[in-house]
Amino acid sequence: MALKVTVVGVGMVGEQIVSILRERDFPMEWPPRICATRARSETLAGEGFKVEETGEEAFDGAEVVFFAGKEGGKGASVQWGEKAVKAGAICVDNGGDFRMDPTVPLVVPEVNLDAVTPDKSFIASPNCSTIQMVLVLNAIHQVTRIRRVVVSTYQSVSGWGVQAEQELLNQIPHALKSLDDIPFDPMVFASPIAFNLFPHIDKFTEDGYTKEEMKMVWETQKIMGDDTIKISPTTVRVAVMVGHGESINIETERKLTAAEAREILSNAPGVVVIDEPNTNSPRPDPLERTYPVPLDVRKPEYRDMVLVGRIREDPTIGNGLNLWCVADNLRKGAALNVVQIAEGLIERGRLNP
Ligand SMILES: NC(=O)c1ccc[n+]([C@@H]2O[C@H](COP(=O)([O-])OP(=O)(O)OC[C@H]3O[C@@H](n4cnc5c(N)ncnc54)[C@H](OP(=O)(O)O)[C@@H]3O)[C@@H](O)[C@H]2O)c1
Repeated sequence: MALKVTVVGVGMVGEQIVSILRERDFPMEWPPRICATRARSETLAGEGFKVEETGEEAFDGAEVVFFAGKEGGKGASVQWGEKAVKAGAICVDNGGDFRMDPTVPLVVPEVNLDAVTPDKSFIASPNCSTIQMVLVLNAIHQVTRIRRVVVSTYQSVSGWGVQAEQELLNQIPHALKSLDDIPFDPMVFASPIAFNLFPHIDKFTEDGYTKEEMKMVWETQKIMGDDTIKISPTTVRVAVMVGHGESINIETERKLTAAEAREILSNAPGVVVIDEPNTNSPRPDPLERTYPVPLDVRKPEYRDMVLVGRIREDPTIGNGLNLWCVADNLRKGAALNVVQIAEGLIERGRLNP
């Protein structure tokens, strides 16, 4: 029997969920039930769907519900999560409302699918910037404990949602003529984003950090089950459409050479290392190396992976490494992770198609 699936939210992440369910031949009845704030017809991933206004009946008979709505009191999983669980579904939520709830497992399946014990039916998926970092950190942490991480992110506009992508597209024609007085909607970003970047993602906290930065700290510690790992983050929005980059400095308990780190990461699930002499470079630099960039996540072989490069030893501390990683924030950072969680639960017999 194929699983009955409901997807709540048809924005950037909801569309990717639909596309990934199709691509991966998820064992389900097609089409999934699709819900949003209001009923209409929508084309998602090239296919036409009837979208329903979300109501209790959206969860009748559903075995899996993927939430990809907005966050907060009026958001999808706050409004409907409990009702979906009561209706008997296993729910996987992309939003941030329940990630730090101690009763809710926060899961990156390559790292901690075990957190989904038989009594858990509501599962949270981490923030996009956390997911890609955790895949890298966990591989190293299995070999030698990580003491401290300093991370700076370079996050694409699609991480904010569909309105932010439109905001960048709308600003580009103006910015091509003049970089002065670029029109912008301050409810989306606090500054123009075209040809720009700014160290401001999500709301500020009283100590001067932003919520996005604190998500990287708390979520990483929760997923890795170690709240002694120190994490010092700065999150930056950049004028890229899709694909987040992260520069990560890692201090480990035992020294790892760059070659050892390359070997560990080459064998890590979900990770691809792109870090070798660039023999194809037209530039006269015999030491030039390859490295991943956000446009790489458009390539079919890379779109579901966390790409890692620039792996170097940090000579300024005893046991330090520097590296760079890139992933598709809409796929591994959101939609793919939730589908992989459901696939993991099928493998473990918790969901029975
Ligand atoms: N974008 C990313 O890279 C990323 C990464 C990780 C996690 N997330 C999380 O994933 C979720 C979706 O993000 P997104 O970027 O896809 O957002 P988005 O493009 O703004 O789309 C949000 C969708 O949710 C629907 N929605 C909002 N409130 C709802 C409610 N109360 N009930 C039912 N549907 C509701 C909206 O319906 P209408 O279309 O009818 O307005 C819309 O279809 C958010 O929680 C976000 O934080 C996003």
